[in-house]
Amino acid sequence: MEFFLDTANLDELRKGVSWGIVDGVTTNPTLIAKEGKPFEEHIREICEIVDGDISAEVVATDSAGMISQGKELAKIHKNVVVKCPLTRDGIMATSALSKEGIRVNVTLCFSPGQALLAAKAGAYIVSPFVGRLDDIGYTGMELIRSIVQIYKNYGYKTKVLAASLRSPTHVIDSALAGADIGTMPFKVLDMLFNHPLTDKGLDQFLKDWAKVFQETPVAG
Ligand code: E4P
Repeated sequence: MEFFLDTANLDELRKGVSWGIVDGVTTNPTLIAKEGKPFEEHIREICEIVDGDISAEVVATDSAGMISQGKELAKIHKNVVVKCPLTRDGIMATSALSKEGIRVNVTLCFSPGQALLAAKAGAYIVSPFVGRLDDIGYTGMELIRSIVQIYKNYGYKTKVLAASLRSPTHVIDSALAGADIGTMPFKVLDMLFNHPLTDKGLDQFLKDWAKVFQETPVAG
C-alpha cells in the first residue's frame, strides 16, 4: 500500500519524508489555502521535498477551465497529478486530460457508480472519501471495498486512493480492503507508530542490557 500525506504543510512533509515511508502527497484547495502561499510556487516546493505523486487540484468548474488549469498544473513538475472533482465537467476534463497523457486524480468520490465513471474516463487515481461518509452516518469503508471489487472485476487500472482517513483504524481497514493508496493527515501517520507494548518492551530490553553491559555492542 502506498502512503500519501494529506497536507500542504512543508514541515509535516519534511518530517514524514525523513521517516522514509512517504510515497506521495494529496492537496486540496482547503489545505493549500491554509498555508497562505502562492499556489504554483507551493506545489513546486512540495515536489522538491517529496519524490512521488503530488496531487494538485483545479478550481475551475467548467470542463474547458479545468483542462486549461490542468495543463498548467502538469507543467509545474513531472510528478504533479491533476485533481478534478467528480462532476460531469470534471469527468469530461479527466477524459480529455488523460487522452493527452496527463495523469488525473478524480476527487470527491462518494459512490461506486461515480468510481466507475472515473475509471471509464481513464483516471489515474480515484479518491473515495471515507471520513466524510462516516460523518453523515454511512460506513465509508464499504465504498472502498466496493470500488476495489468492481475495478478487479473489469481489470480497471485506476488506482483506488482511500481519502478522508481520520484514524489508524481507517488506514488498516483500507489496507484490508485492498486500496492501492491511503492518504492521511500527518497526525494519523504519526499515530500508526504507537503501541504501549513497543514502548514497554524497549524499556525492558534497555534496562536488562544496562544491568550487564556498560557500553553499546558496536562502537559508534
Ligand atoms: C484527499 O485528497 C482529500 O482532499 C482529503 O482526504 C479530505 O479529507 P477530509 O475529509 O478530512 O477533509
